Amino acid sequence: MKRNILITGGAGFIGSHVVRLFVNKYPEYNIINLDKLTYAGNLANLKDVENKSNYVFVKADICDFPAILSIFEKYNIDGVIHLAAESHVDRSIKDPFLFAQTNVIGTLSLLQAAKAAWEKSGGDNKLFYHISTDEVYGSLGSEGFFTEETPYDPHSPYSASKASSDHFVKAFHDTYGLSTIISNCSNNYGPYQFPEKLIPLFINNIRNNKPLPVYGKGENVRDWLYVIDHARAIDVIFHRGLPGETYNIGGFNEWKNIDLIRVMIRVTDKLLGRKEGESEKLITYVTDRAGHDLRYAIDSSKLKTRLAWEPSLQFEEGIEKTVQWYLDNQEWLDSVTSGAYQEYYEKMYSV
Ligand code: NAD
Ligand code: DAU
Repeated sequence: MKRNILITGGAGFIGSHVVRLFVNKYPEYNIINLDKLTYAGNLANLKDVENKSNYVFVKADICDFPAILSIFEKYNIDGVIHLAAESHVDRSIKDPFLFAQTNVIGTLSLLQAAKAAWEKSGGDNKLFYHISTDEVYGSLGSEGFFTEETPYDPHSPYSASKASSDHFVKAFHDTYGLSTIISNCSNNYGPYQFPEKLIPLFINNIRNNKPLPVYGKGENVRDWLYVIDHARAIDVIFHRGLPGETYNIGGFNEWKNIDLIRVMIRVTDKLLGRKEGESEKLITYVTDRAGHDLRYAIDSSKLKTRLAWEPSLQFEEGIEKTVQWYLDNQEWLDSVTSGAYQEYYEKMYSV
């Protein structure tokens, strides 16, 4: 069936994998990638699909309601997969206003545009799918998992803004009958992640013999999922999830930061042909992140039992592929760390 699907944030890390999967797997769909191209958005992430006939890129800001409304009308959008966001916790601590603006007001602007457009065109087969995070549930002690019933308890400005956007999505479902789904995923890793997040930052620093800044004692725990498995889950939920539902996505793959860092050092040193453990000396303990959540762990059994999704990649294989990708794509890494790609796109899409 022909569908016009708006993917927001498609030039970012996870969004670019979702765009690639949908463009290649569903030639019968039109995929409209809407992105503002902030520091985190990079069209080089999508070079392999940019000339496909079922793909179009639109540079726009999700907070610009009139622009969003006209995009819904122009492309006759009938499905939304909303990923555009400010996504880095450390940046949210420095600039909470930006996170409220993009993540809350931006989501509200998209919801309002979907509601207006779909009231006009009829609501059948429409879906607004919001991509969210496990951080909305707060922090766990050493036991237990986040389920879909865990009460929201966000701690950082980032997670507070994502929790708020989730609540707006639910409010539009309950108040206006908008067809919505939310998924809350754990930490993603893989190709095209901006090197401010733990895994690509540390691979890049190991490669360049730079210090590895471990927050606090390195004892915080995260549940890591390969980004392509997240994109596969998004595909399954978009097509077979039930409107009004929430789905947790995770890898049942918990790692204490310091243990994960040691794995990255081992794999990166091996692939660089260095002596085993040579880069351990780069580990540098630094002041902890303010409000640092101790542990995240997702129970994704609802997604497994109801929609038959499971992660396809074991962590050892995923991390090796990831390190290899960053080592093979040094040009990409250098261009995003130097900001060269931003200058290029500012010229190309000057507004
Ligand atoms: P990212 O920072 O790599 O990409 C975000 C994208 O959104 C960029 O392309 C950016 O240009 C775009 N964007 C930002 N502000 C915009 C605006 N005002 N208008 C239009 N586009 C804008 O983020 P990511 O890590 O790929 O995360 C994508 C989504 O998934 C986010 O909603 C995030 O909260 C969620 N999420 C991320 C993870 C993770 O581990 N990275 C885990 C769970 C959920
Ligand atoms: O859980 C899902 C979330 O995962 C997503 O919603 C966020 O968008 C994504 O950024 C990620 O958040 P985290 O804060 O968990 O990811 P980050 O890579 O920033 O940090 C992972 C862990 O590593 C965390 O405990 C903080 C620590 N850390 C991070 C950096 C950047 C360090 O010790 N040193 C660092 O330099």
